[in-house]
This record gives sequence, C-alpha cells and structure tokens, in this order.
Amino acid sequence: MSAPLTCRPTTAADLPALSTLAHAAFGPDEGPEIAALLHGLLGHPIVAGGHPQALSLAAADPGGRLCGHVLFTPVALAPAPTPAVPAAILAPLAVDPALQRQGLGQRLAREGLAQLRDAGTALVFVLGDPGYYTRLGFAPAARWGLQPEHAIPPAYGDAWMVQSLQPGALERLAADGVTRRVVCTGMLGEARYWGP
Ligand SMILES: CC(C)(COP(=O)(O)OP(=O)(O)OC[C@H]1O[C@@H](n2cnc3c(N)ncnc32)[C@H](O)[C@@H]1OP(=O)(O)O)[C@@H](O)C(=O)NCCC(=O)NCCS
Repeated sequence: MSAPLTCRPTTAADLPALSTLAHAAFGPDEGPEIAALLHGLLGHPIVAGGHPQALSLAAADPGGRLCGHVLFTPVALAPAPTPAVPAAILAPLAVDPALQRQGLGQRLAREGLAQLRDAGTALVFVLGDPGYYTRLGFAPAARWGLQPEHAIPPAYGDAWMVQSLQPGALERLAADGVTRRVVCTGMLGEARYWGP
C-alpha cells in the first residue's frame, strides 16, 4: 500500500514546485500558461492577502513533494446582489500524471470546497469537463442567469458550472431575474484562459 498523502495550504515558497507540477499535468502546450497563471494569481494582493474566498491547497507525499494542487480565487457578481454573495472559482486543478485516476483530484477539490463552505462561501464556479465536475456537485450555471466573464462557444456551454455551498443561495440570487456576469480576480479574467 502506498504512503498517505497530506493536504496542506501552499505558501509562496511552493511556487517553483507548483510550476513544475503544472508543467507535468498540463503538458508542454498548456503548462507554461498555467504556471504563469498560478504565479500571477498567487502573487495577487487579494489572494496573497488572505481573502476568505482564496484557497490554495496542495497534496504532498511523505517526502514533501507536491503531487496535486487546487486553487480557488474570489469572484465578484456584476451587477452586485444585495445582500452580497461570497463566491469563488476553482481553477486550476492539477494532479501529477503518475498519480492520476486514483481519486486525488476529487479529494483536493472536495477538501477545498469544505474549507470554503466553512469560510462562508455561498457559490463556487468552474469552467471544465462536465463529466468530471458534475461528480463534485457542479451543474450548468446558465440556468441561474450567471454568465462567464468571457463568452464560451455554445457547444461548450455546459462547461460553465456552479455549485451552492449554502442552502438556497442560488434560488435567492436568481429570484430577482437579473442576469449577472462573474468577474474573476487578476489574470483569470484574461480572455486567453476562457477558450475551448
Ligand atoms: C483532471 C485531473 C485534475 C483529475 O484528477 P485525477 O486525480 O486524475 O482524477 P480523479 O482520480 O479524482 O478522478 C478520476 C475520474 O475522473 C475522470 N477524469 C480524470 N481525468 C479527466 C479528464 N482530464 N477529463 C475528464 N474526466 C477525467 C475519469 O473518468 C476518472 O474516472 P474513472 O476512474 O471512472 O475513469 C487530472 O487528470 C489532471 O491533472 N489533468 C491534467 C490537468 C487538467 O486537465 N486539469 C483540469 C482542468 S483545470
């Protein structure tokens, strides 16, 4: 039986290891862009400053090597609802290729969602494979009038998803019938991260 992995928050000192992991998980085409995204987001004052909807969690092996990582960063809803709805987006999620399909990605995501719930987060968004993220409790966001910051081709519309961490949060938000845009923190708001 393999040794257990531990989940822990990352620090600025982990950035080189997170970059290595991003290159390994996303490969030579996407890896450099994801590593740059991590660098930008983890160094962003809102994220580095300990915002309640910012969470960077890594899985480490007994030797301390990072083999999985998930990042949540705060998002704003526009127009802003009253009362405010604390919300975050999950991006990116990465697992060392040697350890994929063993449940680590889901474990990291679930742990992060539980910690965000405890921090008072009402909604979490993701842009990703519906087959993967529906298992984690996400469902298409468009039905709640919640639009991504950048348009997504209609064929990928179901990839834009949300889940409520507080009972009734989506129903209360959508009750006014207003369509809202989800505005990301820092580099995640750049159009290049929203392509298919
Ligand atoms: C996507 C990723 C994070 C999943 O982590 P993981 O630890 O391998 O996945 P889990 O073990 O938690 O879940 C495995 C299940 O998810 C599904 N799955 C795994 N990777 C998937 C992918 N890239 N797309 C769709 N489904 C995937 C599989 O169906 C698998 O189910 P199965 O065992 O019944 O076949 C990981 O494969 C990875 O790092 N991929 C490269 C980076 C990436 O694409 N990240 C997501 C976008 S931000």
